[in-house]
Amino acid sequence: MGNQNSRLNLIDLNDYPVSWWLKLLELGHRIVSDPSEYSEACKGKIMGTLFYEPSTRTQMSFQTAMLRLGGTIIGFDNPATSSVAKGENIKDTTKIVSGYADIMVMRHPVAGSVKAAALTADCPVINAGDGGHLHPTQTLTDLLTLKEEKGTLEGLTIGFCGDLKNGRTVHSLIKAMSCFPDNKFVLISTPELALPVYIKDVLSASGLEYKEVTDLEKVIGELDVLYMTRIQRERFASDEEYEAQSGNYILDAKKLAKSKLDLIVLHPLPRVDEIAVEVDDDSRALYFKQAKYGMYIRMALILTIINGWGTPLPVMKGKIHQHIECSNPKCITHQERYLPHWFRGEGTTLVCEYCDERTLVE
Ligand code: NCD
Repeated sequence: MGNQNSRLNLIDLNDYPVSWWLKLLELGHRIVSDPSEYSEACKGKIMGTLFYEPSTRTQMSFQTAMLRLGGTIIGFDNPATSSVAKGENIKDTTKIVSGYADIMVMRHPVAGSVKAAALTADCPVINAGDGGHLHPTQTLTDLLTLKEEKGTLEGLTIGFCGDLKNGRTVHSLIKAMSCFPDNKFVLISTPELALPVYIKDVLSASGLEYKEVTDLEKVIGELDVLYMTRIQRERFASDEEYEAQSGNYILDAKKLAKSKLDLIVLHPLPRVDEIAVEVDDDSRALYFKQAKYGMYIRMALILTIINGWGTPLPVMKGKIHQHIECSNPKCITHQERYLPHWFRGEGTTLVCEYCDERTLVE
């Protein structure tokens, strides 16, 4: 597992140049305009969907995307009905499925798990969400929505509100939007659910403006885009900790009245209570449309990967340091003990290639 083949996987959007994302968005735009033109584009191809964690939109939009391209699908959405329930590790399950399918889509509750699968898979692997870490195809969905609805990915003031600590869609979207000039970021959360340091590092390195605030109402008038998120109950250590955070941010008609008329409200969904249902009828509420863009951009992604449009990349950068353990207890390397410990960087601070968290070395 120390040697790796280069492949067109999608684990983290930032592995690829922005020009590649823009081509995907262009193709997505063409598909939105005339989806039927692509109805046989993946005829004879099979997509495997391995969902170890609940999903409605991501799974079904991937499946309908492949069906609308003329391909077929296999997979599971409940690991309890697969050999995972018998104790099979990620390596074996994904090795087998990637031998059956031409492209594999995987969601898993542990950070770095999809990258771990890509290390040994025999077909391209797409990350459909790995724990609280990343969710690149939601980001493609968000980028297509912004491009189609705002007409630009630049010069936007974007507010992210809710669970910025555990929300993988937030992490991926901030990483992506920090690659475009003149964007500003308003991070709205309680201190307990603030953005992880490794994402703040990305913002600092970009040189773009960002601020952390706790009050949504005070800043809503500044925003061009408001990205609301669910408090990620399943990622909390206890019910008490979750209860202390739930219900802190609720977007309702009264707060929305203070926003710009051309604000757009996005949400990766599912919603719990963070957007009052009354907001759904406001023209600024775009989250249902956003979910539909998700299907179109996934059609573009599947087509691009199946056709090999892009430069294949090695799965891992850096080096194996087998004696060093990742400092993040939620990293896949602590669960799947056979994995090589890949880190990038030198000296006393190494960065885990699976989960991107820093590890300090003596
Ligand atoms: C998100 C996810 O799974 O991270 N949902 C999605 O993919 N559309 C957001 C969430 O679960 O809150």
